[in-house]
Amino acid sequence: MNFELTEEQLMIQQAARSFAQKECLPGVIERDELQQFPKEQILQLADLGFMGVMVPEAYGGAGMDAVSYVLAMEEISKIDASVSVCMSVNNSLVCYGLEAFGTEEQKQNYLVPLARGRKDGHLYIGAFMLSEPEAGSDATSQRTVAEDKGDYYILNGTKNWITNGGTASVYLVIAQTDASKGSKGINVFIVERQWPGVTVAAKENKMGIRGSDTHTVMFTDVKVPKANRIGEDGFGFTFAMRTLAGGRIGIAAQALGIASGAYELSKHYAKTRKAFGTAIMNHQAIAFKLADMHTRIEAARLLCLKAAWEKDHHLDYALSSSMAKLYASETAMWTTVEAVQVHGGYGYVKEYHVERLMRDAKITQIYEGTSEVQRIVISRSILK
Ligand code: CAA
Repeated sequence: MNFELTEEQLMIQQAARSFAQKECLPGVIERDELQQFPKEQILQLADLGFMGVMVPEAYGGAGMDAVSYVLAMEEISKIDASVSVCMSVNNSLVCYGLEAFGTEEQKQNYLVPLARGRKDGHLYIGAFMLSEPEAGSDATSQRTVAEDKGDYYILNGTKNWITNGGTASVYLVIAQTDASKGSKGINVFIVERQWPGVTVAAKENKMGIRGSDTHTVMFTDVKVPKANRIGEDGFGFTFAMRTLAGGRIGIAAQALGIASGAYELSKHYAKTRKAFGTAIMNHQAIAFKLADMHTRIEAARLLCLKAAWEKDHHLDYALSSSMAKLYASETAMWTTVEAVQVHGGYGYVKEYHVERLMRDAKITQIYEGTSEVQRIVISRSILK
C-alpha cells in the first residue's frame, strides 16, 4: 500500500491551492451575499484544464487521474464551494457521461468544448438534469417525457434544482420514453439551451453555495435529434446511476474541502484567540474539538482517495463513492458546526467564513443522492 502522491498529483494540488487563494478568496463573501455566479473564476479554471480534468487530451481535457481530481476539488472547496460545484458537475457528470458513453460525433461536437470550458472564446459548460418536482431520490419516477418521432424526439417536462442551469450551454436531460418499461424506459439526451422550447426560470435563492447557478428548466415541445440520444434505447437510468457513482466522488471531495477549510480556520483562530489568559487551543474543550475534526477529516480523505483510486484502476467504485460521499458530507456538516462554535461570536458573522462553510456543507448531504440514498446504495451492496 502506498499513500504517497506522485509528483504530478502534488503539482496539481499546489496549482489548485494557489488558484483558490489568489482567485477565489477575494470577493468570496460578496459573491455569496449577492448570489453572484463566479464566471471569471470558472473561465480561469477552464484555462488551467480543471473543467475537464479526467478527459483525455485528445478530447480537450487535461488527461489527469481521478486522484488528482479529488485533490483539486478539495483545495478549491476549502475556499469557495460555489466554484467547485460548477467544476464538479461539468467534470464528473457531464464530461464523464459523454466520454464514457457518447458517440464519436457527440464527443467532437460537445465533449471537446465542454472539457475546455470554452467555445469560440466564451464560457461553455454543461448541466445534468435528473431531478424533477416529484423525482429526487426516487429517480425512476420521471415525468419528463421524450416522444419518439422517428429521427427525432419531442421533449416535454420540467427539471428542478439544476446546477449550472442558467449558465450551461449543454444539458444532459434524463427523460421517460416508455412508462411501461420502468427504469428501462428511460433515456438521456444532449439538449442545447438555445434550442426553441427551452425556458430557464429564475435563479433559486439558496441557503448555501449561493454563487452557484441553480435553476428550474422547462422543456416545451423541444425537438431533439435522435443522434443526440446517448447510448442504446433505454440506457438512460443506467447512464444516470453510473455517472452519479463518479459524481459522488466529486461531491465527497467537495465536502472534504469544506470540512478542511473550516478546520484550518479553526486551528488558526484557536492559536491566536486568547481567553482566561492563554490561547484557546490550550483549553482541552477546544483542543479536543480540533483533534476530532482532524481525525474525521483524515478518514473522509482516505475514503475519497480510495474511491478515486478504484476509478483510476477501472474497478467497481460505486460502493466506495457512496461511502466517501456519505462520510465526507456528514463530516463537513459536523466540522463546520463545530468550527462556528470554536469561533464563538465571531463564527456567527460573515467575515470569519465559517458560517458560510456551515451553510455550504448542508447541500453536500442532499445533492447527487441524499445521505439516506447513499445508505440505500451501501446497504444493498453489502447485503446482496
Ligand atoms: N450502475 C448500473 N446500473 C444500476 C446502478 C449502477 N450504479 N444502480 C442501479 N442500477 C440499475 C439496477 O440494477 C436496476 O436494474 P434492473 O431493473 O435490471 O435490476 C435499475 O438500475 C433500477 O435500479 P433500482 O431498482 O436500484 O432503482 P430504485 O428505484 O430502487 O432506486 C436509488 C435506487 C439508489 C435510490 C436511485 O434511484 C438513486 O440513486 N436515487 C438518487 C438520485 C440522485 O442521486 N439524484 C441526484 C440528482 S443529480 C444532482 O444532484 C446534480 C447536481 O446538480 C449537483
